[in-house]
Amino acid sequence: MTNPYQPQPAAILDIRPETAIDTTFRLAWDTPPSPGQFYEVSLPRLGEAPFSISGIGDGYLDMTIRKVGRVTEGIFALQPGDHVYLRGPYGHGFPLEQLAGKRLVIAAGGTGLAPVKPVIQYALAHPERFNGMEILLGFRSPEDILFREEIAAWQQQAPVHITVDRAAPGWPGKVGVITELLPGLDLAPLDQFQAVVVGPPLMMKFTVRALTERGLCDDQIWVSYERRMSCGLGKCGHCKINEKYVCVDGPVFNFTEARWLID
Ligand SMILES: Cc1cc2nc3c(=O)[nH]c(=O)nc-3n(C[C@H](O)[C@H](O)[C@H](O)COP(=O)(O)OP(=O)(O)OC[C@H]3O[C@@H](n4cnc5c(N)ncnc54)[C@H](O)[C@@H]3O)c2cc1C
Ligand code: FES
Repeated sequence: MTNPYQPQPAAILDIRPETAIDTTFRLAWDTPPSPGQFYEVSLPRLGEAPFSISGIGDGYLDMTIRKVGRVTEGIFALQPGDHVYLRGPYGHGFPLEQLAGKRLVIAAGGTGLAPVKPVIQYALAHPERFNGMEILLGFRSPEDILFREEIAAWQQQAPVHITVDRAAPGWPGKVGVITELLPGLDLAPLDQFQAVVVGPPLMMKFTVRALTERGLCDDQIWVSYERRMSCGLGKCGHCKINEKYVCVDGPVFNFTEARWLID
């Protein structure tokens, strides 16, 4: 039996800066996770931290990481060929089976786009399994836009609406928070829609509220929670809210459950 706490080495295949502080690391990895799951990533002597999957491919997975502290600074100091150590995948991802056949509204704020990106790519790669998709993306400023190449490709296949909180010289697009994109959305017939909302807590709160005001029911909305985690296995209680362990019961929740997960 394999030890679930035992990290496995993963070689860095490629490093791609996305913004000044966010970088995508491509890691050699053979067993594909489900979109929305996460891994605990460790570096000897520096520690361990949870990260979502921003890309899944043949023999690799991507993680898009923001440099904020000890572990992430250690990862940013690595080069292709170096190793990080992974245990996982953990948690419940996005329910692709339940999303199938539906029209998707994907609303992602900032780095919240990272865990949702594999869902978008799956839906675009299998258009016959879904009834279309609207992609709403909000970033702080044009410099904070992640996955520019991928977004350009998505725009060839689906409506992609982008807004930034703060304009910058030369930005031709929309300025405002992501909820301002919702009134323009055609949500008919309502029962055909499923929404996925991931981003900072305030963005998720107001986006979910705006979607429910537009008539979506709680069971049509899915969110993903980033909580402080340690074991990732439902043992330590770091991630517990009420009776739920975000690491094993989530991080993806249907809003019928998520609406009660208040600290
Ligand atoms: C399920 C899950 C998925 C995640 N996916 C990603 C991802 O795809 N990309 C990514 O960049 N980050 C992700 N995170 C957050 C990431 O785990 C933290 O940024 C990381 O633990 C920071 O480690 P550090 O040692 O570099 O920073 P530390 O030195 O531990 O902390 C630096 C700063 O970041 C803050 N911080 C640390 N952890 C969190 C957290 N969980 N939420 C909010 N603030 C935090 C601290 O308060 C401190 O201000 C995810 C977290 C969870 C729980
Ligand atoms: S992280 Fe330990 S119980 Fe969830």
